[in-house]
Amino acid sequence: MSRDEQKKLAAEKALEYVEDGMVVGVGTGSTVAFFIDGLARMKNRIEGAVSSSEQSTRQLESHGIPVFDLNAVGPLKLYVDGADECDPYNRLIKGGGAALTREKIIAQASDRFICIIDAAKQVEHLGEFPVPVEVIPMARSLVARAIAKMDGHPIWRENVVTDNGNWILDVHHWRIADPVGLEAKLNQIPGVVTCGLFAARGADEVIIGGKVRPIRRPA
Ligand code: A5P
Repeated sequence: MSRDEQKKLAAEKALEYVEDGMVVGVGTGSTVAFFIDGLARMKNRIEGAVSSSEQSTRQLESHGIPVFDLNAVGPLKLYVDGADECDPYNRLIKGGGAALTREKIIAQASDRFICIIDAAKQVEHLGEFPVPVEVIPMARSLVARAIAKMDGHPIWRENVVTDNGNWILDVHHWRIADPVGLEAKLNQIPGVVTCGLFAARGADEVIIGGKVRPIRRPA
């Protein structure tokens, strides 16, 4: 099965979690694009969505799905989003599409985070995919130097400005033994807005293709 077919199946499975009257948290990316198309078929049953990016907002609105400000709707029951990498404990790397900050906010504001991926995103250890870090522009070189001291190799994603007006550093060649600890350390660097490690708050469930994958519990 192709990767796109797997993404579509995962998105279709995630639609089963959508309940009548919900405001659904919606992520960003090519997998979520299939989810939004599916959501459009049931748009009369939901109240609307909270969106993690301008890209997803445009797609939602093109289907006539109302998009709400998170502040106006409060905690959400459900957030559906993709990922760039996923370990056996449902910890993730996200932000390949530069939407990590709003994604992390909505994940945190949601009772249940369903992650939809294709099988190629599964890894035993996070870090093969570069870790995106959103930074305030004036702090780019300061943050890059701090990350280099942590044995990361940051590369500025030039010509990309996030929806929040910030820049992205992609950190290559990181062997991530402790994703929760590294996420906390990155969050401490002045100028870091968000890092793409979703470890302290990972996914509650991961759907690969059409199936929910069992989570591995720490020994
Ligand atoms: C967006 O910034 C990312 O976090 C996406 O969730 C991630 O890149 C998944 O993308 P695809 O579904 O396009 O693979």
